[in-house]
Amino acid sequence: MQRRGLHGVQPFLKQAQNQQPPRIRKLRKKTIADYPVKLRWIPVLSFVLPISLIFDLVGYLKQIISFSKSYTSAAPARWQCSQDYPTPAAAPSRLDGLVCTARKPYVTVGIRNMDYKRARRCEVDLSAFNNVLDIDTTRMIAHVEPLVSMAQITRLTVPMNLSLAVVPELDDLTVGVLINGYGIEGSSNIYGLFSDTVVSYEIVLADGRLVKATADNEYADLFYAIPWSQGTLGLLVAAEIKLIQVKQYVKLRYLPVRGTLNELAEAYISSFTGSTPVDNYKLHAKSGINELGCCNNHQNMELQPEFVETIIYSPTEAVCMTGWYASSEEAKQNGNHINRQGWWFKPWFYQHAETALQRGEFVEYIPTRDYYHRHTKSYFWEGKLILPFADQAWFRWLLGWLMPPKIPFLKITEAPAICNYYHENHVLQDLLVPLYKLPAALEFSHQELELYPIWLCPHKLYKHPVKTMLYPEQGFESH
Ligand SMILES: *[C@@H]1O[C@H](CO)[C@@H](O)[C@H](O)[C@H]1NC(C)=O
Repeated sequence: MQRRGLHGVQPFLKQAQNQQPPRIRKLRKKTIADYPVKLRWIPVLSFVLPISLIFDLVGYLKQIISFSKSYTSAAPARWQCSQDYPTPAAAPSRLDGLVCTARKPYVTVGIRNMDYKRARRCEVDLSAFNNVLDIDTTRMIAHVEPLVSMAQITRLTVPMNLSLAVVPELDDLTVGVLINGYGIEGSSNIYGLFSDTVVSYEIVLADGRLVKATADNEYADLFYAIPWSQGTLGLLVAAEIKLIQVKQYVKLRYLPVRGTLNELAEAYISSFTGSTPVDNYKLHAKSGINELGCCNNHQNMELQPEFVETIIYSPTEAVCMTGWYASSEEAKQNGNHINRQGWWFKPWFYQHAETALQRGEFVEYIPTRDYYHRHTKSYFWEGKLILPFADQAWFRWLLGWLMPPKIPFLKITEAPAICNYYHENHVLQDLLVPLYKLPAALEFSHQELELYPIWLCPHKLYKHPVKTMLYPEQGFESH
């Protein structure tokens, strides 16, 4: 990869600060559908947010009850009950067509087209499979059912100083989705994708048998085939997932960069590989880091970061973030800045990170659970499209605690005109690309879509004994 030194960057820096590069394509003309979209905040504010709150409260109470159950004598009984899984035979009259879960398409977080659920099908209701069955601190395993959400699991494990190794950011993402689809997070640079942290799957096969697949038992082929299979191989009813020891805070460093897309990509790569001197891209701001007084242990910063993410805000600006777990003693040391990002009135995380472009590099400590769910309140930057004023201070202080609106209720209140509008004008696309192709991918996305912000996050790709959905290119197996 071509690397530019300081000389290449400096002149461009000046230019970038003064003017953004001209847009490639003209902005779309407004249509009549723009008006209902503009007014969407009315049903969202008056209906979706209150309903979401009630739903959350009920769900929260249920979780408390369910977890206390699984830790008492009721636990074996409940598990016995799940063993009694529903089989297609339970619905003989509809024993025709595809076997799939009864989960309605609007309930899922994704916006994937699920037309197959409109076809003839045999539905299996798995809605009761939303329990954490066990947190095994000796084997360091969480035994969970597929509808357990990330918020549910971190609420339980973080106070025990434990966590899943990969915790995708949105509260409502479920274990089943993250396995049958895929899950990625800032810590994937160490642990791989969400499914790489799973040690066993319990699956109901099409013939109604319940099997447990691990990497080295007779169902190993199934074990490797399940991730990203979109539920096509069987019904997932439980999984065992590795736990790791965590500390109470995440020390997060924000590094603003300016340059061409290629240079932003290089700054991102060097933020976790250290292969190019990041300093070349650093912006030295007036306020500086000394005011925060938090960068006295620089050796610590040189270690491979436990969390990596970069947000590209425009074709010329990005903020690279790298994080390390930190103890509360360290976080509370004099002069360190603690940001309780989870409070309802806090600025949205992506906007908070963006301030690094003005104030320069800085470091702060975020409570671990607040860090995991930092993008939840605003759904990354999607929240702004739904409630354009929800990021403003008055709204955050008054009603920020109602955020975010639940996706199922948002989908229900979408009139067909709005639905079509989103289909035609809205891009929400994840791409997994080899690191060396990142500059080209960014360039492609700029030419084709010219949409920002873009979220970047590295993940380790394991080579498995069998060829899986996703496998390293030849020659890159050790990366
Ligand atoms: C978690 O770690 C902190 C600091 O080391 C300790 O004070 C606390 O007791 C631990 N909690 C549990 C449940 O082990």
